[in-house]
Amino acid sequence: MAHGCDSLAPPVAALLNVSIFITILLFAQPANGWRPWAKSLPGNTSNLLFAGSKKYEGSSSFVDLKYHMGPVLTADTTVHILWYGNWRVPQKHIIREFIASISAESAPSPSVSGWWRTVRLYTDQTGANITRTVRLGSEKNDRFYSHGKSLTRLSIQSVLKSAVSATTKPLPINPQGGLYLLLTSEDVYVQDFCGQVCGFHYFSFPSIVGYTLPYAWVGNSAKLCPGTCAYPFAVPDYIPGLKPLKSPNGDVGVDGMISVIGHEVAELATNPLVNAWYAGQDPIAPVEIADLCEGIYGTGGGGSYTGQLLDGHDGATYNMNGIRRRFLVQWVWNNVVNYCTGPNALDQ
Ligand SMILES: *[C@@H]1O[C@H](CO)[C@@H](O)[C@H](O)[C@H]1NC(C)=O
Ligand SMILES: *[C@@H]1O[C@H](CO)[C@@H](O)[C@H](O)[C@H]1NC(C)=O
Repeated sequence: MAHGCDSLAPPVAALLNVSIFITILLFAQPANGWRPWAKSLPGNTSNLLFAGSKKYEGSSSFVDLKYHMGPVLTADTTVHILWYGNWRVPQKHIIREFIASISAESAPSPSVSGWWRTVRLYTDQTGANITRTVRLGSEKNDRFYSHGKSLTRLSIQSVLKSAVSATTKPLPINPQGGLYLLLTSEDVYVQDFCGQVCGFHYFSFPSIVGYTLPYAWVGNSAKLCPGTCAYPFAVPDYIPGLKPLKSPNGDVGVDGMISVIGHEVAELATNPLVNAWYAGQDPIAPVEIADLCEGIYGTGGGGSYTGQLLDGHDGATYNMNGIRRRFLVQWVWNNVVNYCTGPNALDQ
């Protein structure tokens, strides 16, 4: 379970003022997988504000994250991006820089590469760790919505197929170290978007795409459900009293996507074929290293509380630095200490 609070070392706790400490205590209950889903709206809002998904409640010793012997991404990894729909150049810059920052160890701390350090703790059966090297690969535009403005989970694979088999500049086929990121613009609906998911990852079927390629889809929620998928830069109407935070790169939809992209890339690295690192008995609905920490961005995080974040001079909120930009990215499960960790933890 994601006890952000357990990670507070006593000397740090002593430095915190009383009100912060009380806030942390209030939110100290396990609250994994939290996003303000409309469907999870309970009979009363206090429930919504303070409790997370009940699914994984309990102490960290009950998280049965296990290695199921499948491969993980130990080789240098290249992320190929498929821009589906209408993307503006500044939006692409933000997303490209986030991917490029994963291995940028020169970025000031707390950094995106510091965040990736938790992912690198995972190994395969030979003891090889997840790669340190994640680079930006090729890109392809699908400007004219080749498969329409409403996609299903399966038609996502047909979009991928079109991209790797295009007659001009196809995306390279790179089953060893390639990850494929399909990003849909704000006017595209994808099955289960907003109601159940903000993004997902899987691997392609040879019968559709011709190859087994690990891929993820993440949607820009700016028009459809920013209060859910771009939270906390937008808040849902049904939670009274919550104010949105100012996003670090001036684009609520895209700044909200960054954390979802981080979530999916971390899970692709540790569970690319859905037979490596996950908790739960059911490979159909695996609970993976980022699922366990969704909604937790800093020490004390849980429920609708993000945890301790950083405030920029411009009033923007973030928790890590990239090469030049700042980002807000959720933490991931650390299998060495058995709680969620991130580069901006107060006890580091
Ligand atoms: C709110 O939800 C909690 C937890 O489910 C419950 O114990 C409490 O009675 C509810 N309060 C009201 C006013 O319904
Ligand atoms: C590799 O994984 C092991 C086991 O989790 C960990 O102790 C070690 O620090 C990791 N190495 C790197 C470079 O992250």
